[in-house]
Amino acid sequence: MDTMSTRPIIEVRELRKQYGDFTAVDGVSFDIHPGETFALLGPNGAGKSTTIEILEGYRHRTGGEASVLGVDPAKGGLDWKARLGIVLQSSAEAANVTVREQLTQFARYYADPRDVDEVIEAVGLTSKAGTRIGKLSGGQRRRMDVALGVVGRPALLFLDEPTTGFDPEARRQFWELIRSLKRDGTTILLTTHYLDEAAQLADRVAVIAAGRLVEIGAVDEIGGAEARIPVVRWRDEHGLHDERTEAPAARVADLTATLGGEPRDLEVIRPSLEDIYLGLVHAADGAASSTTPSAAPSPATTVTMTGVGA
Ligand SMILES: Nc1ncnc2c1ncn2[C@@H]1O[C@H](COP(=O)(O)OP(=O)(O)OP(=O)(O)O)[C@@H](O)[C@H]1O
Ligand SMILES: [Mg+2]
Repeated sequence: MDTMSTRPIIEVRELRKQYGDFTAVDGVSFDIHPGETFALLGPNGAGKSTTIEILEGYRHRTGGEASVLGVDPAKGGLDWKARLGIVLQSSAEAANVTVREQLTQFARYYADPRDVDEVIEAVGLTSKAGTRIGKLSGGQRRRMDVALGVVGRPALLFLDEPTTGFDPEARRQFWELIRSLKRDGTTILLTTHYLDEAAQLADRVAVIAAGRLVEIGAVDEIGGAEARIPVVRWRDEHGLHDERTEAPAARVADLTATLGGEPRDLEVIRPSLEDIYLGLVHAADGAASSTTPSAAPSPATTVTMTGVGA
């Protein structure tokens, strides 16, 4: 996709938000290009929802510049709002109308809405279409939030922790929905604490901590090559061995020859997005609390790595 010739869908420059003396967002800049799925990652209180809600026009920024679909979100009118899909972090109000009624009502605000029953199906609420929203379970209500976010066929979709409370099957069903929205060309700004979700869905990610941008880049590149070096793990009479190597296949062949057979409990482990994320956040913590910033992820991350069988 040629993203260079088209204007970004979202442009953020040196964005700042103060709540009294407290700085929640402290000079954040990024662009999101047409058709991109962009994930904003960071610990609780990092400033993700504040940033998103400024871009949705729900909160006023203290400083910096922002443009969303070519409009300053502080000045966006109804036409502009009708091109956005919004799933806020907080769940929808309990309502005395059914799932289908609420979605049908909501869809009327949009010029070219999706088919209500298709949306209900896509979020897995078909068996609850005639149920009042107040009677849905927590996870079902969250699915309803997602349905309301997508029913207007938005050009730009904001999803603030959309799958919190979803069971694992519902999360996978949601991923399929997002992939189909991506195929339709929807641009998506997502936050999630599920790093596997970000790895599955995002083209690029930004990590923010304490209101500052720590890292931004392609989902398979952030953290740098060093943080992605695989580990060969095996066991022998001396115990468990972890060896980082950029040539794991050669190392395994070598080991097999030396040991005269299959190494015990052999694994080749590649750092997951979660490992890399934790390394970046720990490094940012360290940089914030000392005068010598460390750019590289802490070596402690290799200990937390989850295994991928060789
Ligand atoms: N209305 C408010 N008044 C004062 N402080 C606020 C307000 N809203 C948010 N904050 C503070 O700003 C910081 C950033 O909050 P924000 O909700 O943006 O975090 P977040 O990254 O979305 O976190 P989470 O992952 O927990 O959702 C937090 O320290 C929060 O306490
Ligand atoms: Mg939040």
